[in-house]
Formats: sequence, C-alpha cells, structure tokens
Amino acid sequence: MSYAAITAVGHFLPEERLTNADLERLVDTDDEWIRTRTGIRERRILRDPDKATAYMASNAAQDLIEKRGLDPEEIDAIIVATITPDMFFPATACLVQHEIGASKAWGFDLSAACSGFLFALSTGAQMIESGRHEKVLVIGADKMSGITNFEDRSTCVLFGDAAAAVLLEPDPGDCGVIDFYQRVDGKHAGLLSMPGGGSLRPPTYETVAKGMHFLQQQGRAVFKYAVDGMARAAEEIMDRHQLGIDDIRYLVPHQANQRIIDTTARKMGLDSDKVMVNIDRYGNTTAATIPLCFADREEELRRGDALVLVAFGGGFTWGSCYLRWAYDGSKAARARESYATAAL
Ligand code: COA
Repeated sequence: MSYAAITAVGHFLPEERLTNADLERLVDTDDEWIRTRTGIRERRILRDPDKATAYMASNAAQDLIEKRGLDPEEIDAIIVATITPDMFFPATACLVQHEIGASKAWGFDLSAACSGFLFALSTGAQMIESGRHEKVLVIGADKMSGITNFEDRSTCVLFGDAAAAVLLEPDPGDCGVIDFYQRVDGKHAGLLSMPGGGSLRPPTYETVAKGMHFLQQQGRAVFKYAVDGMARAAEEIMDRHQLGIDDIRYLVPHQANQRIIDTTARKMGLDSDKVMVNIDRYGNTTAATIPLCFADREEELRRGDALVLVAFGGGFTWGSCYLRWAYDGSKAARARESYATAAL
C-alpha cells in the first residue's frame, strides 16, 4: 500500500480586511480584548453578495492547479470540507468541479466544522490507499461571514473567510498521511451550532427573528473542551508512533484561539517556533485554517518533515493526523513565480 501524500497546495483569501478597529465600530469591543483573548488582529471578509464558498474553493483549487501544472481532467475526486456551502444542495464539490473543469471527477461535501479539513484529508487519503484513485483534491473552505451575527460581540470577532486546497497522490516512498485519530461526540452539540435552516427548523419569520441562522456558541464551555480535546488528540498520535518533540518539524493546529494553540503546544512540550500560526491575520477560518497554514509556510517544508495536525470543532468533532511532508516547498514556490512571470 502506498501512503497518500500531499503533493501541491493552493489557497484563496478575499482582499477585504476586517480589523479589530473596524469591529470596535460595530459592537462593544476593543482591540486589546480581542488580541489578548483570541490572538486575532484582523480577518478577511468576502463582501460580494454573489460570491461564496464555491467561489473561494474554486480559486484555491485553481491556484493549486496552476502551481502544480495539473490538467484538471486528471483529478479523480473532489472533497470540500465546509459548514457554509453555497446551498444545501447541490454540493459545493459539484460547483467546484464545473468551475475548474475537472470533467472526470466525482465528489462530495463533508461537514465536520473546524475538524472538516482533517476528516476530509483522512477520507481522501483512504481513497488513494485503496488504489482506486490517483489524484484527490481536498479543499477546506468557509464563508463564515455568511453565518456570523455582526451584532453579537462574543462571536463576530472570531471568524474569517478563506479557502485552501491540497492534492493527494500515492507516494513512491514512505511520505504521506501515516496515521490519524478522529472522534465525534454529539452530547454537546448545542454548545456550538447553527440551529436554524435545516429540516428540524426550516426558515420561517420566527427562526430569522430569533437569529437561528447565525452560528451560536457558548464560548467558555467550548474553550474547555477544545483545550482538552486538542491536547489528548495530539498525545494519542504521538504515543502511537512514539514521536518525541525532536521528531516533529511542525505542529499544525486548527486556529480557533491563540490560547488553545499555546496550551496544546505546551502540553506537547513544543516551543512556539515549531507551531504554525495564522490566526492573527485570518481569524478562525473553520475548515480552511490547517491547509492555509500549509500555503503560508510551504516554502519552509521539505520531503520527510514530520507534521502533527490537530483540530477540534462543533459537533463535537476532533482529531489528529501524523503525516510526512512529500516535497520541497521552496521549489513549488519557485514554480509559482515562473508561472506568474510567464502569464504576464
Ligand atoms: N469584546 C469585549 N468583551 C467581550 C467580548 C468582546 N468581543 N466577547 C465577550 N466579552 C465579555 C463577556 O461578555 C464576558 O463579560 P462578563 O464577564 O462581564 O460576563 C467576558 O468578556 C468574558 O467572556 P468569556 O466568554 O468568558 O471570555 P473567554 O475568555 O472565554 O473568551 C472566547 C471568549 C470565545 C474567545 C473563548 O471562549 C473561545 O475561544 N472559545 C472557544 C472557541 C472555539 O474553540 N471554538 C471551537 C472551535 S471553532
């Protein structure tokens, strides 16, 4: 069996920045509270009402395709992790397939909130390992501004919009997704949810009036579970593979709160220079945070680098993944530069 390796990365960020100062004008909050409690300085917002998650996901996929010099017809399957699909159906994956011209692909959306990318990655990896797929596109994409109540200071400061994509292919050696540990537990589903709009509470004047189509969170309670879940998931995967801190090149945690990230790293015994962080610039972009970290730090990654990914999200959903990076990221960055020059 070949491991499924990440062989290319792409991303998309809307241009508009929503800073903490901007939020001070919307709700009763301040920059210091947001920075010290969450680590966030600004986030990106997709303002155009005619563009949403499929647009961002397609752009992230297109970025990957151009960097990798990939023919979209080679893509076998597309998995889009999202909790903010353009609509319930058709799936965002179908819209992306059409937009990028992946005429031989099948695909589906996967809903696991902030663990979405992790769950999609392990699903895609098993599709490669089965031998039935050669190229699987895994995308994490969320337009969180579409379900955020910008009158609720306890949630509107936290989230941002973004998409990022990875390509999975069989590795000829021993790099790729080595193992994963994943769990769900619906006992606390009500602590973090969007209660309206589904078959239980279809849209009515009442659901709209009660704000049921916005994300709702009991932040303090979720924080406790998230700290515990992230740390345990990291510990589980490290124990299984007897990974010491010197074996790990980077921890790539879901970006919900800088304090959760710091606590997870501390419990693992990792210094901050071994932790990928982008929450300060993008906020919590839900399914996009982890692949967005790859896109940000791709140039530093080399074949064989051991990464531990860890996430926690609504559901609850949580888990970890141990992977060995498969390519020299600096070469991929150079390939992108020559593409950009050639395109001028
Ligand atoms: N600006 C200023 N004050 C705010 C505020 C804001 N944006 N949001 C909340 N507050 C206030 C609260 O009203 C509360 O005031 P009170 O003590 O007078 O009642 C106080 O700040 C503390 O609120 P609390 O909710 O206890 O803050 P916190 O330290 O727990 O931080 C979160 C809030 C949301 C940042 C934090 O709980 C968190 O990150 N939760 C987990 C998020 C997460 O992991 N989600 C799952 C994965 S997506």
